[in-house]
Parts: sequence; C-alpha cells; structure tokens
Amino acid sequence: MTDLQTRLAASTAAIRSKWAATPQVGIILGSGLAELADAVSEPVVIETKSLPHFAQSTAPGHIGRLVCGRIGQHSVVIQQGRAHAYEGYSFDEVAYPVRVMHALGVRTLILTNAAGAVNPDYRVGDVVLLSDHINLMFGNPLTGPNDDALGPRFPDMCDAYDVPLRKLATDVARSVTNRIHSGVYVAMLGPNYETRAEYRMVRRLGGDVVGMSTVPENIAARYCGMRVLGLSIVSNLADDVANGHSVIANVSHAEPVVRRIVTGVLERLT
Ligand code: HPA
Repeated sequence: MTDLQTRLAASTAAIRSKWAATPQVGIILGSGLAELADAVSEPVVIETKSLPHFAQSTAPGHIGRLVCGRIGQHSVVIQQGRAHAYEGYSFDEVAYPVRVMHALGVRTLILTNAAGAVNPDYRVGDVVLLSDHINLMFGNPLTGPNDDALGPRFPDMCDAYDVPLRKLATDVARSVTNRIHSGVYVAMLGPNYETRAEYRMVRRLGGDVVGMSTVPENIAARYCGMRVLGLSIVSNLADDVANGHSVIANVSHAEPVVRRIVTGVLERLT
C-alpha cells in the first residue's frame, strides 16, 4: 500500500467505526453555512480532530466536524468547516477529506463557499452555480508521485462541474430564488482579500466570483471520478470593504436558501 492508501485506510476505518453506512453524497460547507447540516436526519457527528490525518481548520466560522446521516433517500457525509491553504496546510491536506469521502463511497460532491463578486450584476446573498473555475492558487493537491490505483496522472478538467447536475440545481434553485447565476470561480491563495487591481484582473480573466477554497477539492474529486456541483454565496462585492465577520454574516443570511437548494437537489438526484 502507498502512504496515501495507508492514510485513507486509517481515516475511513475511524469513520466507519462510528457510522457504518455507505454515503453516496458528500457536502463541504463553507463559511457561514455550517447550519445547513441541521438538514441531516439520524445524524452521527464526528469531530475531525478525533480522525487520523485530518487537518484542523483554524478559520473563523469553520467547525471541524463531519455530520453523517441522511437527507431524503441519500446517505450523506457533510464536512462542517474546511482547512485552507492560507492556514499553512498543503494542498494535499486541504483536499484530503475529498479523498476520504471517495474511499467511503461518495460519488457526488457538493462544494459550497463564500465568495466575493466581480460580476457587476451580482448582489450580496446571491447564489452562483459554478460553471467552471480558474486556479490562481499556484498549487495543486495532485503534485508529487501519482498513485495510479486512485486516479490518472493527467486528469481531464473539461467537466470540472457536472453539466446535468448543474441543470438539475438550476431548476431547483429557480423554484427557490430568482437571485441565481451561473458563473466562473477564481481561486486565490489568500488570506487577504484582493486589491482593487486584483479584483479587476479577476474580472478580465473571465471570473464572476473569487474565493480561497473549492478548487483544490474540485481537482481531487475530478481526479477520483466524482461528479461535482459547486455553489458560491456572494458575501461581498469587489471593491466594497470586506472582513471575515461581514463575510460570515452575509452568507449566514443566505443559508436557508442554500439549504432549500441542496435538499431540493438531493430529493431529485438519482
Ligand atoms: N476574495 C477572496 N475570497 C473571498 C472573498 C473575496 O472577496 N469573499 C469571500 N471569500
């Protein structure tokens, strides 16, 4: 067994000792969205600090927990709070929970995040279904030796965000809110928010929203062959002064809408 396979075996065994079901769907909750896990029935809560090889988030609003259980007819594992590269973690550590979810059985991953909007049509609280991303983090969870048993050396990224899943999510989201968009997420390392010139650059490069997460997890998920749905919640507008507290507060307001979208998607997901 490679080192990665040994780590995955230890992490999955620790989770299975507390929750024996096989999850089909994984959800990672970004800043301000932790309460979405209240949608889980029969929850089993696992502190990530009790799990081997899990990085602990130090970011405000990021609780280190897995909430395992059911939403509708699906078994789900929800990560409340993620580790970020700006905290000093390697991209491998940041994306590790996705690999664990895959090893548990997850084949559909929903990634959520708080993001700044560079698209002038967007407003705070809007939901953006990600159509694509641009990696400006200058790091990648797949660097280093490749384990061919887990995924290809050169994974294709043309379908970074699954088209049928996006269509389903768009239909559901339109029945919940009219503040819904399809947009491109640009990932920066952080932890500072962008300068005015950087926000302008992100827009010119083709971005609609900008954030500090999601892309490493998406890359690891696509590498494993998972289909991915990505949702950004607009927490601030480019050029408006942002801070960690206002970002969390603005996203928390939108959490009920996000919850209805996610549970609606799961109800219709096959
Ligand atoms: N920039 C980067 N990351 C973010 C932002 C932003 O404006 N808002 C929330 N996360």
